[in-house]
Amino acid sequence: MNLPYAEPFRIKMVEEIYQSTRAEREQWLKEANYNLFNLKSSQVFIDLLTDSGTGAMSDRQWGALMTGDESYAGSRSFEQLQNSVEKITGFKYLLPTHQGRAAENVLFSVLVKEGDVVPGNSHFDTTKGHIEFRKAHAIDCTIDEAFDINNLHPFKGNINLEKLEAVYKSHPKESIPFCLITITCNSSGGQPVSLENMKAVKALSDQYGIPVFFDSARFAENAYFIKKREQGQENRSIKEICKEIFSYGDGMTMSSKKDGLVNIGGFIALNNEEIFRKASNFTIIYEGFITYGGMAGRDMAALAVGLDEATEFAYLESRISQVEYLGNKLIEYGIPVQKPIGGHAVFIDSLNFLPNVSREEYPAQTLGLEIYKEAGIRTVEIGTLLADRDPETRQNRYPKLELVRLAIPRRTYTNNHMDYIAAAIKNVYERREEIAKGYKITWEPEILRHFTVQLEKA
Ligand code: F0G
Repeated sequence: MNLPYAEPFRIKMVEEIYQSTRAEREQWLKEANYNLFNLKSSQVFIDLLTDSGTGAMSDRQWGALMTGDESYAGSRSFEQLQNSVEKITGFKYLLPTHQGRAAENVLFSVLVKEGDVVPGNSHFDTTKGHIEFRKAHAIDCTIDEAFDINNLHPFKGNINLEKLEAVYKSHPKESIPFCLITITCNSSGGQPVSLENMKAVKALSDQYGIPVFFDSARFAENAYFIKKREQGQENRSIKEICKEIFSYGDGMTMSSKKDGLVNIGGFIALNNEEIFRKASNFTIIYEGFITYGGMAGRDMAALAVGLDEATEFAYLESRISQVEYLGNKLIEYGIPVQKPIGGHAVFIDSLNFLPNVSREEYPAQTLGLEIYKEAGIRTVEIGTLLADRDPETRQNRYPKLELVRLAIPRRTYTNNHMDYIAAAIKNVYERREEIAKGYKITWEPEILRHFTVQLEKA
């Protein structure tokens, strides 16, 4: 008999979670103004709001944490982190920051100015925010296949080279500070970019004299997909693949809360000394001295180990196969999800799931609320609430896809939890015809409304 798959770890510490009743959840939702961000974590049984900073650290990481050096300058933990980053990425300069968006803030303060354009593959919200805040524009050059949830393209995060070249041809070199490759591409469903595509983007960008940077929050998951899906890569180690990935870039920003396997932190890594020097000044103003940049020494020590663990195949296999396990269960139940299943999350297509709820009544939000009511599972809306209003007309912007994201924290839940989640969603799916009414907004802020918006039943 073939032995079944089993996780390459055992559990040393557990945290109790409370399983509430439906009546309690109905009441809490009302008190939360039907916004899942307003729930207390104690009101949530399984929390799939995000995979960011919500994972479990290993015994090696907790051990490293106790050895943290809290010196203001030149701490030993910084050295450990620098060695780890250089070993994995090949970049020699490192600036720690308190999280990913802080790395964006520091780097873009050096490189992005008013009127610039930054091409890339569906920039993440905070990245786009930091570009637009500087009165520059993010241009999405993702391949068209990414927007068809049933297209099985293995690398739906790829950049379309013609779209990219069109940007390079239609703007002066001085107004294109860099091309940004997000690995994996969160906004298109945790979808990877192939090595071949990165290499081609780098070659094209070199031709036009444009640097290439990576938004690397989930780079190790991207490397796993390269090993599994790209021809000729199957016998290479994840660390070898990572080295090649970063050889196609001039630098990176990182949210360590994902593939750093820690609860807080970020960094910039690069090879260009001049950019490093300029970015060092912004790090000091915004984050802290350049050898801690907003992180405690102990957190840098844990991150140095986390980066090493996240780039091991056995870990990645357990992580990504769990996400796939949930995705496949949902597919088996006939639930419309983004395919292939991404690295960190499963995305449900709510327009197909709830065809009776009009777009004006926020179908993805409605579905997220139904899933919470059903079983205490918290998800996040990636739809019209997130897309916000057009700044000029103040009309709702309706995105192509109206999604509910089930983001799976790393090393946190078991496959029994996945079965529970899938069953809960199946139950909602079976009564989908009865769900005809969505929600309406009673209050919203000027920008980034999804975090604080208040709703009532329509
Ligand atoms: N880049 C990507 C691709 C991200 O997914 C995130 C965060 C960031 C940058 C910003 O990093 O949170 O450390 O400041 N994504 C989280 C999510 C919030 O839920 O997808 P941060």
